[in-house]
Amino acid sequence: MKIILLGAPGAGKGTVAKQLTAIDGSVQISTGDILRGAVQAGTELGKEAEGYMKRGDLVPDSLIMGIMEKRLQEPDCQKGFLLDGFPRTIPQAEALKGLLVKLGINFDKVINIDVPRDVIFDRLCTRRTCSNTACQAIYNVKSMPPKKEGVCDKCGSPIVQRADETEEAISHRLDTYNEKTAPLIGFYEKEGLLKTITGTSSEAVVAEIKKSLGI
Ligand code: AP5
Repeated sequence: MKIILLGAPGAGKGTVAKQLTAIDGSVQISTGDILRGAVQAGTELGKEAEGYMKRGDLVPDSLIMGIMEKRLQEPDCQKGFLLDGFPRTIPQAEALKGLLVKLGINFDKVINIDVPRDVIFDRLCTRRTCSNTACQAIYNVKSMPPKKEGVCDKCGSPIVQRADETEEAISHRLDTYNEKTAPLIGFYEKEGLLKTITGTSSEAVVAEIKKSLGI
């Protein structure tokens, strides 16, 4: 499958993407995970992105497009990909459209996961993430705790709270989403590619996505 997952921070894009990759070997491409990996590795990209991320601001479009242009040409994308957290602004969506034409790639659908703001706020305050950048498994102290407290089920690394998971940064990320990312819903509606799924159960969201893709 070749899809874009849209939705506010905490809507469950990463959780759903991890379930979908198991279906046909499509890869999850999360710009957030790529950026957090770069921050942890102390690369130039990471140094540039870190301040924006901590505040809950978006990283400049030019940095993101450079990452995506390279990533979409890697061999593992040939089986399919799920874009998680990208595009995030109208300029990114316009640039992606041009890039896909250039690379000769058509994508199937844009899935908009719609979850109420109060549910999202609660989820983000209680989310925990594996600190191993090669893993980045997602947990939740309320709804999806690891088997052993503080330890990743998959790789045994410590699980941590993300640096942008303070109440102030979460609020700012939600406002940034409303201002800069929500307009993409109208953009993809006009392109005839949008499917909105309202719901708080990841299993139900995955089932709806499969149905809309005919798989
Ligand atoms: P990014 O990592 O993309 O964060 P985000 O969009 O804010 O999305 P999240 O990862 O917070 O949420 P999610 O929807 O994946 O939810 P999850 O599945 O984890 O971006 C971080 C930062 O990087 C940005 O702020 C920006 O600075 C920068 N950035 C990234 N991409 C960029 C771009 N394209 N342009 C510019 N800047 C960019 O679920 C959340 C929690 O809820 C988890 O604890 C999970 O266990 C739980 N949960 C999920 N589903 C359920 C359920 N059904 N029931 C109960 N709990 C659930």
